[in-house]
Amino acid sequence: MADILKVENLKVHFHDAAPDRFAVNGVSFNISEGEILGLVGESGSGKSVTAMSISGLLPRGKADVSGSITLDGSEILQCSEAELLDILGEELGIVFQEPMTSMNPVMRIGPQIEECLRVHTKMSKAQRKEFALEAMAMAELDEPEKIYNKYPHELSGGMLQRVMIAAAIISRPKLLLADEPTTALDVTIQAEILQLLQRLNKQYNMAILLISHNLHVVRKLCKRVAVMQRGKIIEDRPVEEIFNDPRHEYTQKLIAAIPTRDKKLY
Ligand SMILES: Nc1ncnc2c1ncn2[C@@H]1O[C@H](COP(=O)(O)OP(=O)(O)OP(=O)(O)O)[C@@H](O)[C@H]1O
Ligand SMILES: [Mg+2]
Repeated sequence: MADILKVENLKVHFHDAAPDRFAVNGVSFNISEGEILGLVGESGSGKSVTAMSISGLLPRGKADVSGSITLDGSEILQCSEAELLDILGEELGIVFQEPMTSMNPVMRIGPQIEECLRVHTKMSKAQRKEFALEAMAMAELDEPEKIYNKYPHELSGGMLQRVMIAAAIISRPKLLLADEPTTALDVTIQAEILQLLQRLNKQYNMAILLISHNLHVVRKLCKRVAVMQRGKIIEDRPVEEIFNDPRHEYTQKLIAAIPTRDKKLY
């Protein structure tokens, strides 16, 4: 199957880091159309910086980036900021860990979900609302009409994360980046959000890069997982192989580090 994302020899060096300290140090991986790839690794291993590089969110003046990132055939490390925004607006959706901090507290939910359409399309207000309500339904939010007019503080954490997902999928991107999408949520809500991601993947053939420190979360959703350590991918294999026969001591530790309580939940 065709690759929706191709990352080749990605290196990221922050200007304020030691000269030999690369946040991402030669990372390569592909994601096929409709595939869910898990990306795991300990804190500081470079997962989020990898995701930020793909989503164009890396502060351009603060870091040197080299290598190649191709999203649906377009090289995104070489293009202008305007081109980048166009490509990303159409092809990529992003969901982060903290739904509350990514939202504007004084703006109603609906307009925030539509933001991407307001910036990237010439749709009328009514059309945007129609798309927003549909995306909210896709994110399995009950009573989208009601929620549309609410403010962030009126919703629970789980609902807010669904709102974030609705915003991320409003333009039906082929790839969704989910960076620890459930870490900030209660365990029961975590499972619901993961199921939602799984359904979006199946129903709309949306590829997902699922970043998590929890290998069991990843095992539930992904067939393939890449393990990162100190800016490098040390294993990229089918998830069951990694569980049954982890090659690296580091991966063994990651598997062993998961509390039994979590193992039962997923
Ligand atoms: N804006 C920044 N400026 C300077 N260094 C940064 C910046 N963002 C990240 N780093 C550094 O890059 C490295 C990788 O960080 P990253 O956030 O990608 O880790 P991570 O794998 O996502 O960890 P976690 O599991 O805690 O989210 C770390 O050493 C971090 O300190
Ligand atoms: Mg991170």
